[in-house]
Parts: sequence; C-alpha cells; structure tokens
Amino acid sequence: MNLIQRPRRLRGNEILRKMVRETRMDKSSLMYPMFVQEGNNCKEEIRSMPGQYRYSVDCMEEKLEELCDVGVRSVMLFGIPDKKDALGSGAYAQDGIVQKAFRKAREACPDLYLIGDVCMCEYTSHGHCGVLCGQDVDNDRTLELLAKTALSQVQAGADMVAPSDMMDGRVSRIRQVLDENGYVNTPIMSYAVKFASSFYGPFREAADSAPSFGDRKSYQMDYHNRREARKEALLDVAEGADILMVKPALAYGDLIREMKDCTDVPMAAYSVSGEYSMVKAAAQAGFIDEERVMCEMAVGAYRAGADLYITYFAEELAKCMDDGKIG
Ligand code: PBG
Repeated sequence: MNLIQRPRRLRGNEILRKMVRETRMDKSSLMYPMFVQEGNNCKEEIRSMPGQYRYSVDCMEEKLEELCDVGVRSVMLFGIPDKKDALGSGAYAQDGIVQKAFRKAREACPDLYLIGDVCMCEYTSHGHCGVLCGQDVDNDRTLELLAKTALSQVQAGADMVAPSDMMDGRVSRIRQVLDENGYVNTPIMSYAVKFASSFYGPFREAADSAPSFGDRKSYQMDYHNRREARKEALLDVAEGADILMVKPALAYGDLIREMKDCTDVPMAAYSVSGEYSMVKAAAQAGFIDEERVMCEMAVGAYRAGADLYITYFAEELAKCMDDGKIG
C-alpha cells in the first residue's frame, strides 16, 4: 500500500505516545471535596460513597495531611450541621460547623488552599438552597444570606468561595459584601453552569440535604439546554466571577468546551458524587477496572477544556499522575 498518512506511526511506542500527547494534567489542578460534621472523634463512612467519610473537626487533620503529602493542595469544605432551620442559620453562624472546620484547617495545614461551598441546602430544614416564600425559593432574600455565608467563611479562613445555589445575582452580591469588608482579593468560583441532575443523589445522602418537597428545577438548570448555559456563564463573568464551573462533568463535556471557548476565565469541572459512586459500585461488582475508568473520566474532563478538576478521587488521581499512568 502506498499510504502517505499512517496515523499509527505515532502510536508505536510508549515514549512516542507520551511525546505527542495532547492533554497534559497536573496535580496542582485537583481539588478535593470534603465533608465535616459536628461531634468528636468521628470518621463516618458515607454509605452511598464507599471510601468517602464525614469527619468531625478534630479528625480532619490526618486527611488534610494525607492530601498535602500526595500533592493535592486545595480542598473544598462542606458542612453538615446538627440542627437545621427554615433560614439555614447554621450556614452563616460564627461557630457554625464549616466555620469551625475552616479555622481548624487553616491552623493545622497553612499550606492548603481552602474553598468554601456557599449554599443553604445542608442547613435548611426543608432542604432547599435558599429561603422559602410559600413553595418557592425567594431569590432576593436568599442573596443576603448567601453573602453573609460567604463572608463568614472567609472570616473563618476560606481562601476562596464557591456559590452553588444557582440564585440570580449571587455573584455580584457576594462580591459586593466581600469588597465592603476588605476582602477584595478573595476569588469567587461560581457554580455557573449547574444542572438539576440526578448525579447528585449520593451527595444528598452524604450531606443530608435532599429537598423535603419538590425538586431544584426552579433554580438549577434544565440539562437539555446549552444556550442557557452560555447565558449563565456570561452573566457570572459580568458579575465578577473569577473562575467558572460546569457541574456535573461526566455527561457534560460539550458544555465544558463551550464555556471554555466563550469566556476567558479558568474553567472548573466538578465530577460529582454520582460519578464517583457509579465507578465504585461497578468496580466492586467486578464489571470495570476502577483505576482505569477513573483516569479516563478525568482525562475526558481535561480534554473537554477543564483547567481545574474537582473530584472525590483527587488523591488517587494524584498518585496516578505521579506514576505516569496519566498526565
Ligand atoms: C449544594 C451542592 C450540591 C453539590 C455540591 N454543592 C448538591 C445539590 O445541588 O443538590 C453536589 C455535589 C455532588 O454531588 O458531589 N447545593
């Protein structure tokens, strides 16, 4: 055969394949989501997320050090309070669970970069992401509480805040309150492109945050839409978001790419709880190779355009990068 182009030439050996690799990753772009709860001396495994735990504040340090040791330097904290109420007051309490966790993490691991998930759903008795007016979430009243939550997290030691509630205008309100309080250099990573997704199922068990009635479709996006995703992304950039996020990651590669192309801020992809749990369950049943599937999913998100990757597999991925399995 007289073939001029033989794409297989560049696949002939491992050194060459790595030389021409198009997607390169680095551990510095991994972010680990971690759950903290009240109590002492507890590290409780989350039933729906094997290998993930809810830590009491006094037990966080070991995990944080482990992350540091493998080179995962940024952690996003989720608080699970003991008491919930209609206004989600635990979200912005000075001695709230996540505020205590930030103070502890700040002191125990000063080299870690700490991010606060800003939302009300773990803290409200009804499980919605804001204050209710009848059966609906009151957007503008919720903004005040979100801004208060963000400020309290930053005052407790968060380096960055990440609003995940999907209320309109929250980025600009949070920016304004942070600025008024002197935190002009604290970045906001907006969960701008967040869909009403069934992939969050295991998280809602982990954080005990399932809505007690209805669903989140009046604030999280309909996953049939991509123009709306662009609208949300552009709005959040205009409001002052420093980093945008697409969530979930696995079925949303097209949107990671599109948001990357239509904005000029760093793009984060959140591989959510359901993605993690599916891999774990299928691997435990012997149907797939956990490590390889985990790697392939991560590369898929980076290839789609993610600059940052938020994942419960952060530690394992960092090790695979060290071992040259991916990267
Ligand atoms: C809070 C929040 C959720 C997740 C991150 N922040 C739950 C939700 O929106 O229902 C999901 C994360 C995951 O599934 O891993 N609103």
